[in-house]
Amino acid sequence: MNVYVFASPDEIGAAVAQRFIDDAQGRTPRVWGLATGASPLPVYCRLIDAYQQGKLSFRHIKTYNLDEYCALPRNDENSYYTFMHRHLFDAVDMEEKNAHFFNGTAPDWAAECRRYDSSIVQDGGIDLQLLGIGQNGHIGFNEPSDAFSGDSFKVELSASTRRANAPYFTNRPMPQYALTMGIRRILAAKQILLIATGTAKADAVQRMIEGRVTPQCPASVLQTHAQVSVFLDERAAAQLSCRTPTVR
Ligand code: GLP
Repeated sequence: MNVYVFASPDEIGAAVAQRFIDDAQGRTPRVWGLATGASPLPVYCRLIDAYQQGKLSFRHIKTYNLDEYCALPRNDENSYYTFMHRHLFDAVDMEEKNAHFFNGTAPDWAAECRRYDSSIVQDGGIDLQLLGIGQNGHIGFNEPSDAFSGDSFKVELSASTRRANAPYFTNRPMPQYALTMGIRRILAAKQILLIATGTAKADAVQRMIEGRVTPQCPASVLQTHAQVSVFLDERAAAQLSCRTPTVR
């Protein structure tokens, strides 16, 4: 893992956005795995800036979001579909057909997960995967458990995840279930970029980077992937014993 510590979330946003901008200069089309939550927002702001300055176009980009809540209509204000349109897609030249999401209201969740996984494979797999991390070490919605997951699946959200995300749900109760890419699917990405900021993530970050690889801390599995870069602010890096290299 390459670990970089930055002075602020905004500087992380600039550095991570640059990785995406560079990736888009390569051969097309590119396939990006995207994440929701507060951590990626500075990245999306920078990508919008790059689009407005003519440095980036999404015309040849396909995206797959990591996860989606179950039982939320796509247009609910809390769906990840809405999140991505509000914070990125509506502001750039992203074609609707290239932005892929789980259908959290699909009647047969297993069939929906198979559809999603096969679509990723048909598109050639994910080139660049953006991740955040939950306070309990989850990635996507892969909660701590007894075994690492494989393909996409339906998950019951943990009490910790529900507590962390409940404040966003002002119009309805927080869903209990979600569809998420599984760990094997995430590890199949060619490159992974993970962002963690703030003191609340410090313990999970330490276990992800310096702890043993265990499904009790799902993010620790990233130690087994050859192309992972972790972008931290000082507070999220506070519990690491090894602090190099540091970017300021
Ligand atoms: C949710 C998402 C994760 C995200 C996590 C952290 O649980 N499913 O993909 O990484 O939140 O979010 P935040 O960046 O807001 O702390």
